[in-house]
Amino acid sequence: MAEFQARRSLLYVPGSNERALIKAPHLGADMIVYDLEDAVAPAQKAEARERVAEALAGAAGEEGCRAVRINGLDSAWGEEDLAVFAAAPAAALLVPKVNEAGDLEPVQRALDEAGSRARIWAMLETPLAVLEAQHIAAAAKGAAARLELLVMGLNDLALEMRLPAGGLAARLGGARDHCVLAARAFGLDIIDGVCNNFGDEAGLRAECADGRRRGFDGKSLIHPAQIGPCHELFSPSEAEIAHARKILLAFEGLEADSQGAIAMDGVMVEALHLAAARRVLALSGE
Ligand code: COA
Ligand code: MG
Repeated sequence: MAEFQARRSLLYVPGSNERALIKAPHLGADMIVYDLEDAVAPAQKAEARERVAEALAGAAGEEGCRAVRINGLDSAWGEEDLAVFAAAPAAALLVPKVNEAGDLEPVQRALDEAGSRARIWAMLETPLAVLEAQHIAAAAKGAAARLELLVMGLNDLALEMRLPAGGLAARLGGARDHCVLAARAFGLDIIDGVCNNFGDEAGLRAECADGRRRGFDGKSLIHPAQIGPCHELFSPSEAEIAHARKILLAFEGLEADSQGAIAMDGVMVEALHLAAARRVLALSGE
């Protein structure tokens, strides 16, 4: 089912790291973001731009979900990044440091003018972006119709909020919940922030489980070793799949529209739970 595109993992790849750029499309991540922004030092910006353009051209048509994170349009590199990548064969441009809906409009315009099919992905990583999340997400229905995905940026958010380092996700629950609400209010997908400690698999698993419980579609990743555990935790479990099948079966014999709520193992199940059950089965590949 095309409408249930898997978005369990979004792997950042530094645009300046040639080995990582070559490796990335073969690691099995659902989305890859070739990064020109935070992962690339100022002295390497120009070279990274060339490497990323080459990487995109080299595998054109092979990998659907590859995006480029451009530098902010108020930085020294953003305008040129946008000019170079507006017409590139990328699935999306990821826009960092979005503060308000209007920040997406120059990107929408540039993609329109280039005749591109690329979508817009927007980072929520400043206090203002979190407060404005509703209006940023609403832009998908208005001036930034290419917007399809929101991506949490917890490191920048924590920096601006002056949070001490470590365990960021656990302390940003309120902001993350707020952004999930904003995404869903306008039918967008949303990806949780990164776990910086890429050697800590148990910590990553706990963050993935927490993100999924909060409604995120997937998680931002920085290292290949994070992909496997992330996919496991953002896929429906055997128990969830079995439960979903049971709900479908329970409603199967009933006349359409004849039954609002039924009892199943002492728990109320409503017709609305059918939609959730179908989504679980679609995500599990059934
Ligand atoms: N994407 C693709 N490949 C990656 C990768 C990534 N994000 N991170 C590491 N690799 C590759 C390495 O190139 C290396 O491949 P090689 O053996 O062919 O050289 C292999 O995986 C093992 O890497 P490892 O030695 O364990 O990691 P490292 O010490 O070289 O790098 C980081 C660690 C964190 C610097 C690196 O993973 C990284 O740059 N991650 C992305 C950072 C980023 O984009 N930040 C911005 C968004 S928050
Ligand atoms: Mg950032």
